[in-house]
Amino acid sequence: MQDSNNFNIHLPDLETIKQGKEFLFLERDGRKEKIEFHDYDRIYEIPGLYEHLFYEQYKCNSPVVVCGLLKKHIEQEHKDNEQLVALDIGAGNGMMGEQLADLGAKAIVGVDIIDEAAEAVQRDRPGIYDAYHVADLTDMPPDVEQSLKKIDFNCMTVVAALGFGDIPPDAFASGYNLVSAQGWVAFNIKEDFICAEDQSGFCKLIERLEDDGIVEIRERLRYRHRFCQDGTPLYYYAVVGKKQMNISTKVLAEISVALKPVEA
Ligand SMILES: C[S@@+](CC[C@H](N)C(=O)[O-])C[C@H]1O[C@@H](n2cnc3c(N)ncnc32)[C@H](O)[C@@H]1O
Repeated sequence: MQDSNNFNIHLPDLETIKQGKEFLFLERDGRKEKIEFHDYDRIYEIPGLYEHLFYEQYKCNSPVVVCGLLKKHIEQEHKDNEQLVALDIGAGNGMMGEQLADLGAKAIVGVDIIDEAAEAVQRDRPGIYDAYHVADLTDMPPDVEQSLKKIDFNCMTVVAALGFGDIPPDAFASGYNLVSAQGWVAFNIKEDFICAEDQSGFCKLIERLEDDGIVEIRERLRYRHRFCQDGTPLYYYAVVGKKQMNISTKVLAEISVALKPVEA
């Protein structure tokens, strides 16, 4: 397929493939390169490829759904979207940042672990974020942490970035703990990651967040996040809640112990 975006890709026609294993071939200068869908560094480097692949081809609508749910709950409280000071983690090339900007957020700060994400934002969506940090939320550099701590965030968003080797529970907690009490939290997560068999840690984390009164969940909405490469619809939950208190290191330790496989 030759696209107006100036790249030439081939998507394999597969009977069955698991999410997380999907791939494409990119043709450039007579060379064919295999790129996995989770090779975000490579995908962000090619203008328009991320949007074409996930949004046009596989019909992802998560930023719109998550942001729509957040808007609904802000409005139900008769609060003003324009007062939002949002921390968007796993921000990528700014798809969620764009929705938050459309919502009228007062300030948006993005964090992503790879340089290519920041470069893609600068190239394709300049001005969406008031600041954008390249940092691993599981091991935040002190200067990034300091600068984030100076901001009074009243919202954290995480879209299409939990599980699948992306943002783990402790990185989620680092972002969450930067938000003030009564701040909003809006994220999405694959339905498999919030069922009892889950090993990503999110099932246990969300259970503890609710049981311990760390978050007050306002709504969980099951919806189709996108299609998998084999045509299977992928269902996620969009979740919106209000932060009540920080996630302690004790809670995180207990979750990780609960996940350790029992030795035979
Ligand atoms: C599928 S992309 C989602 C991007 C964007 N939120 C969207 O909705 O299009 C997941 C992003 O999470 C980032 N990520 C993975 N692990 C991370 C970590 N530990 N800290 C910060 N970002 C991380 C990846 O680099 C990638 O850009």
